[in-house]
Parts: sequence; C-alpha cells; structure tokens
Amino acid sequence: MPVHEHIYGFDLIPETKRGSKLMMVDLDSTEVETLEFMSAFIRRTHPAVVIECGTYIGVGAVFLGNAVKANGEGHVWSVESNSEIISASRELIKEKGLSEFVTVVEGNTLEVDLPEPPYGVVFHDAEREPVHLTKELERFACNLTEDGISFIHDSALNWWFQDVRTTVSDFAKQNGMNHFTIHSARGLEMLQRSGSNGS
Ligand SMILES: C[S@@+](CC[C@H](N)C(=O)[O-])C[C@H]1O[C@@H](n2cnc3c(N)ncnc32)[C@H](O)[C@@H]1O
Repeated sequence: MPVHEHIYGFDLIPETKRGSKLMMVDLDSTEVETLEFMSAFIRRTHPAVVIECGTYIGVGAVFLGNAVKANGEGHVWSVESNSEIISASRELIKEKGLSEFVTVVEGNTLEVDLPEPPYGVVFHDAEREPVHLTKELERFACNLTEDGISFIHDSALNWWFQDVRTTVSDFAKQNGMNHFTIHSARGLEMLQRSGSNGS
C-alpha cells in the first residue's frame, strides 16, 4: 500500500503516515480516521449546532468545520480552556478559510455560554475525568436532537484514559440512552437518544 505524508493539506507525523491504521497530524489532535467518521455523520444529518469540547490547536475543528461548510448550513462551536493556544486554533481555522463556520469559545466546557440546545453533534474531547465527563454529558448528550450523537473520544482501554467507556456506559444506563462502542485504536463511544428515528 502506498504511504503518503500529507492528507487534507496537513502533514502527517512520521509514525502515522497514510497507509497505517492511525493517521495523525499531531500527537494531541484526533486521528484522521475518527475525524472523517464524524464528518461523514455531519454530512449525513446536517446538524444546525455542532459542539466540540476541547479545541487544542484546531485540527478537529477544521474537519468538523469543513463538513458543515460542505452542508451549506450549521455552525461549529469549539470550546477551549487553555488561553495560550486559543489564538493558534483561530489562526488555523482562518488559514483554512473556515472562520465563517467555526467559532472557538474560550472557557470551561461546563460553564461557557453556547447556543441553546438541541445539539446535533457533540464531540467530547476535553477532560475525561469521570465527574467532569458526566457533567459534560448531562449538559450536551441530554440535549441532543432526535438524530443527534455525542461522540466521546479516547475510550480504548489501552489508551491514556481508563474510565471513559465505563463512565459513558453508566451514563447511558442511568439516562436510558443508546450506547455504541467503536473498537478502534484510540476508541470512540457514541450516545444517542433512545427511540431516535433519524431523518
Ligand atoms: C485532546 S485535545 C483536543 C483535540 C481536538 N479536539 C482535536 O481533535 O484536534 C484536549 C483539549 O481540551 C482542553 N480542555 C481540557 N479540559 C477542558 C475543559 N474543561 N474545558 C475546555 N477545554 C478543556 C485542553 O486544554 C486541550 O487543548
């Protein structure tokens, strides 16, 4: 299989070149395959409001923003608490021509002002400590559109955070939500309202 070093205008870090099972632009950004997966969901469901918890340098926001741009409707609100990297993410979003589609909001995911629910897609990629994650799920996953999904990243048991899958599973049981696990290198959990019909 040919190996490429660039994808979507980004350089891939050497150990995860295209052709491997995990393509990454940066060690702390989301792997390309998971961003493509969520982008496809956004393209399919045309959400009005997309929330990203944890912007970092903006790589995920660029993928989500491109999907919203391709839809011709909707907006991404990406929340970041580290004031030192906010300008880097805004710069990247501007460089990629996505300022109209993505807004980076500075603050804590549990506290910042955001558009009123419901939320069509939520990407939980900030703190994964169980108490914080549960509060994030209460704020966002409990307020999804009928066909909306909360994606919770980095849930693989051999990855950095140990309790993500259990936290999501407990939350789903307590709130009567559907819970799916994508068994991938870093792991991804998905929550959807039970009885969703989709559209
Ligand atoms: C893994 S990085 C996010 C990567 C990004 N989602 C992407 O796909 O490129 C996690 C980010 O979440 C931020 N963060 C951690 N706790 C947070 C909180 N409570 N509220 C907002 N941002 C937070 C960190 O500062 C860090 O930049």
